[in-house]
Amino acid sequence: MQVQHESDAPEHPTTFRVLVTGANSGLGFAICCRLIDEFLHTRPSTQTLHLLYTTRDARKVADTSKALHAHLSSTLHKLNHRNTRGLVGEDRVIIEGILVDLAKLDTVRALATELVGRGEELDAVIWNAGIAGWKGVDWLKGMWGMLTDLKYATTYPEFMIPDVGLVAAPQVASLRSSKKNVNEQDVPEQPQLGQVFLANVFGHYLLTHFLAPLFSPTSRIVWISSTGALPPYFDVEDLQGLRARAAYESSKRVTDLLALTSELPSTALYVRGLLGKEQGGRDAMALPKMYVTHPGVIATSIAGLNWFMGFWMLVALYAARWLSSPWHPVDPYKGAISAVFCALSPPEQLADLEAREGKGKWGSTTGVYGEERVARTEVPGWGYCGVPGRVPEGSVTTGMWRGRVEGSREGREGFEVEGARVWREIEELRREWEERLGLED
Ligand SMILES: NC(=O)c1ccc[n+]([C@@H]2O[C@H](COP(=O)([O-])OP(=O)(O)OC[C@H]3O[C@@H](n4cnc5c(N)ncnc54)[C@H](OP(=O)(O)O)[C@@H]3O)[C@@H](O)[C@H]2O)c1
Repeated sequence: MQVQHESDAPEHPTTFRVLVTGANSGLGFAICCRLIDEFLHTRPSTQTLHLLYTTRDARKVADTSKALHAHLSSTLHKLNHRNTRGLVGEDRVIIEGILVDLAKLDTVRALATELVGRGEELDAVIWNAGIAGWKGVDWLKGMWGMLTDLKYATTYPEFMIPDVGLVAAPQVASLRSSKKNVNEQDVPEQPQLGQVFLANVFGHYLLTHFLAPLFSPTSRIVWISSTGALPPYFDVEDLQGLRARAAYESSKRVTDLLALTSELPSTALYVRGLLGKEQGGRDAMALPKMYVTHPGVIATSIAGLNWFMGFWMLVALYAARWLSSPWHPVDPYKGAISAVFCALSPPEQLADLEAREGKGKWGSTTGVYGEERVARTEVPGWGYCGVPGRVPEGSVTTGMWRGRVEGSREGREGFEVEGARVWREIEELRREWEERLGLED
């Protein structure tokens, strides 16, 4: 699937506003570029794109702004070269960088306060920023995997060495900013927060809550997951992955559980809490929707390899694609297709489709020659659409993961029970931390 053209051109000028986290590199940067391109190609000339992107420091904001403007100019050049219906101007796209460090909750609050203060609705947010929490590579295991089982080893890289029990730094600045007058030496004891869980899930989760006043029922909350979001890495007794052997995969399984169960009656209470609609009533029924996507496997700096090993990893990823792996877009721009699809596609291509066929995990897939498209991905327990045994058209059915079991009613029920528990616990965690740090409204 690709983003379709919007059929109804609004007569009055409108602005489509989207926020992307972690945009200075890898997938986040590619998502921003692809958003610009697909917006200009599919939306009527009366619409403007306001692209808000986040980085962790001012230098990265400036560098990213420069790179995105260069990309915009190149897209406009190509578009105007072909266009016979009049020139498309730079003013169709507004690019704006802002700061946030998802592991520092005072900055999460500050970003939300700034945006809510402006009062401009957000049409989509793409929660892309993330860390892997790996401390190295088991080279021997990696080489063996590459030589004997290339497609599998590059899709489920069990040779990365996770930093088990990685904990985030205490939220000192957050306490200070809530005027609790705290010195570095005498920070009151805080419960641990898993660093990977905080950066990948919980920071975004809190941001969703703080930004809720800017969402309308048609706004879209797009999460980035992974093909590695598999059940063996996640223990529901350990939401933050503090004891997990792979906190990254654990955090991505949490992401799948949150997004895929977000429209079920069993989670409605918690979803309304997150989106500030606890009161119920007619208005509370119309909530923005969550979508979960993954980019397949792409070459970015997340693995933390040096240039030499990075080069050989790139060769291995292309080789996996040529051996017909559907999950190796390799190029971040191709990997960005699923997130951009979930942000930009018209309702009949996504919300209505999910209402008809069931909620899906939208992945970026490519053919051997790299032609990319969006496809539903099988999620252990949930299946392709939340209905055991049903495989909607266009799904990718590799059955590649060796722990795969056939979808069943029990598996589907188990997924929902686990999802509801994750929702309950993460909501409790949100309330506790908001109160602890004085971050409430
Ligand atoms: N690469 C893959 O094959 C792959 C596969 C599946 C899913 N993904 C997902 O894709 C997303 C992007 O990863 P990537 O591969 O593009 O890696 P990347 O190039 O390392 O990009 C990660 C981005 O997240 C930002 N970030 C990290 N920690 C942050 C924090 N605490 N607060 C704010 N921003 C933070 C980074 O900023 P700094 O530069 O300041 O660190 C960077 O902009 C992640 O969610 C990842 O899990 C990637």
